[in-house]
Amino acid sequence: MSGNIHSVLQETRTFPPAADFVRQANISGDEQYQKLWQRAKDDPAGFWGELAKEHLVWSKPFDKALEGTMPETKWFTGGKLNASVNCVDKHLTTWRKNKAAIIWEGEPGDTRVLTYQDLHREVCQFANVLKKLGVKTGDRVTLYMPMIPELAIAMLACARLGATHSIIFGGFSADAVSDRNNDAKAKVVVTADGGWRRGKEVPLKKAVDDSLAKSPTVEKVVVVRRTGSDVSMVPDRDYWWHDLMKDASSECDPVEVDSEHPLYILYTSGSTGKPKGVLHTTAGYLLGTQMTSKWVFDLKDEDTYWCTADIGWVTGHSYIVYGPLQNGATAIMYEGAPNWPDEGRFWEIIEKYKVSIFYTAPTAIRAFIKWGDHWPNKFDLSSLRLLGSVGEPINPEAWMWYHKVIGAERCPIVDTWWQTETGAIMISPLPGVTATKPGSCTKPLPGIVPDIVNEKGESLGPNQGGLLVMRQPWPSMLRTLYGDHARFKETYFGKLQGLYFAGDGARKDEDGYIWVMGRVDDVLNVAGHRLSTMEVESALVSHPKVAEAAVVGFPHDIKGEGICCFVTLKQGEGNDALKAELTAHVRKQIGALATPDSIRFAAAVPKTRSGKIMRRLLRDIAAGKEQVGDTTTLEDYAVLAKLRDTEE
Ligand code: PRX
Repeated sequence: MSGNIHSVLQETRTFPPAADFVRQANISGDEQYQKLWQRAKDDPAGFWGELAKEHLVWSKPFDKALEGTMPETKWFTGGKLNASVNCVDKHLTTWRKNKAAIIWEGEPGDTRVLTYQDLHREVCQFANVLKKLGVKTGDRVTLYMPMIPELAIAMLACARLGATHSIIFGGFSADAVSDRNNDAKAKVVVTADGGWRRGKEVPLKKAVDDSLAKSPTVEKVVVVRRTGSDVSMVPDRDYWWHDLMKDASSECDPVEVDSEHPLYILYTSGSTGKPKGVLHTTAGYLLGTQMTSKWVFDLKDEDTYWCTADIGWVTGHSYIVYGPLQNGATAIMYEGAPNWPDEGRFWEIIEKYKVSIFYTAPTAIRAFIKWGDHWPNKFDLSSLRLLGSVGEPINPEAWMWYHKVIGAERCPIVDTWWQTETGAIMISPLPGVTATKPGSCTKPLPGIVPDIVNEKGESLGPNQGGLLVMRQPWPSMLRTLYGDHARFKETYFGKLQGLYFAGDGARKDEDGYIWVMGRVDDVLNVAGHRLSTMEVESALVSHPKVAEAAVVGFPHDIKGEGICCFVTLKQGEGNDALKAELTAHVRKQIGALATPDSIRFAAAVPKTRSGKIMRRLLRDIAAGKEQVGDTTTLEDYAVLAKLRDTEE
């Protein structure tokens, strides 16, 4: 970890918000923002406490807004509430009862609309199903599903019972599913026969079957019929969703849980070892996602809001389900790929449903650019009023394209910085406040106090690159890593006393705008998804022919970062057939998202004297900045390393 980071990005264009947007915005003008931000900084408990009273539905009011200091903070202690009530029931006594909560479109073109009333009925029914299968308050339920409404229903049904959901992205392999089942000690798995992705079926039930051989805690499996293809059903273990729902009552009293009751676990990659089970609790997470949806996306009742993320990632948790639903919004949910049946699919959806707010990722934007302007230009995108970006730094040129071609130079862009661990957006423009600069996530939201520091935790001056930290706790922050509180403390609070360390490098410019420069640990950001170099290395080394592996990222046009693997074999030489075999092996171990972009066989992997892989050198080689032969020896690396400053 290096505290001083050199920044090369120079960007001077600014885009102030349009006057008519400012006039109608939920937070309007710099004065209002400054006031809110200062108030929250000076009195976080008072600020968040007032919001929690006003915006959450409590069955028992809380006693204290904030207790303790980081990392052991508790929010809204003494209070009791239920997340599904806050997302669904609260709208049933209002005109929103029959408003569309979720407008869903499957990849083949089938559609479904669920009003808040519909959602309530199905959530209650499925909560009763789970109850009947033995799920109790506090139990963990794995959801390994395609992007279908049943996923949102299952999440809220878990929440209704106070059971903790653990969603596993459908792109993960059977091995990844069993690892997560075991870590969470999941009792029930909810899945589907399959899901549609680029015209092909993703065989989810098959993966669950394979995973269950190694998941002893799982007792029951519920299977949604989505694709209709043949799957094997094990008697007394596997049940069809539609069979169980038929007989389930549509009344289910919500279980009132403590504010700090676990709402969900979501596994994410860290720099070492196995994936980390990030644990979010109920009240703080709900408040964070609700308020940020309102502030950052300027959500209004009239909006048709579309976040293109998969619910398997935190973005989908917070900004398809919990944030928008608490606000009574109408959210679009789309099952499939952006280029199926052709590259116009997203723009077709925007035109069809008159989407007004569109939230996607830089990796998708780079793909749109490559596919050509004629795709979006074929459609009427005039319903759009706000654009968002998340997952990695957005390159200024991609930002400009988004601004011009999709936003018609009319829509503000919110570049939202946050993490699985933060639960909700932390640093982002406010569309009615902030003059944006392409590539900068700009300024902290009210209640968020970031800083850029050196390795001693000292604040750095303007344009000095350093480590991005948070100086104050916030309600939606993770509370622990499931089953490993020591790792939680060490990972986020162990490096800089009293500060939350995000793992990112950043700088603040002379206007106080934050520019995130990427991860400073051994975590790759591939297509906006975090992957640990260690996990890919472990997957490679588990192949019988591999002696050692070093994995680094390299700049990739579409994915942001590609995965380059340096592999040394136990014996013999590498060839294309073995490359294909190793690629398939990594996909089996982790999933398609970890598919190596390049595998290079090397006679050795360069290490420092203390035994650390010289990643900086390997990164330069992977990026083509340093040339080495194909069967690189340690001596070759040593020469290269000597030509530059050493890595130790
Ligand atoms: O490196 C930052 C990058 O993504 C990391 C968080 O990844 P994950 O937990 O998977 O969550 C992704 C969705 C919230 C961060 O540590 N990142 C995310 N958003 C941005 C970003 N980097 C720069 N700008 C962003 N807007």
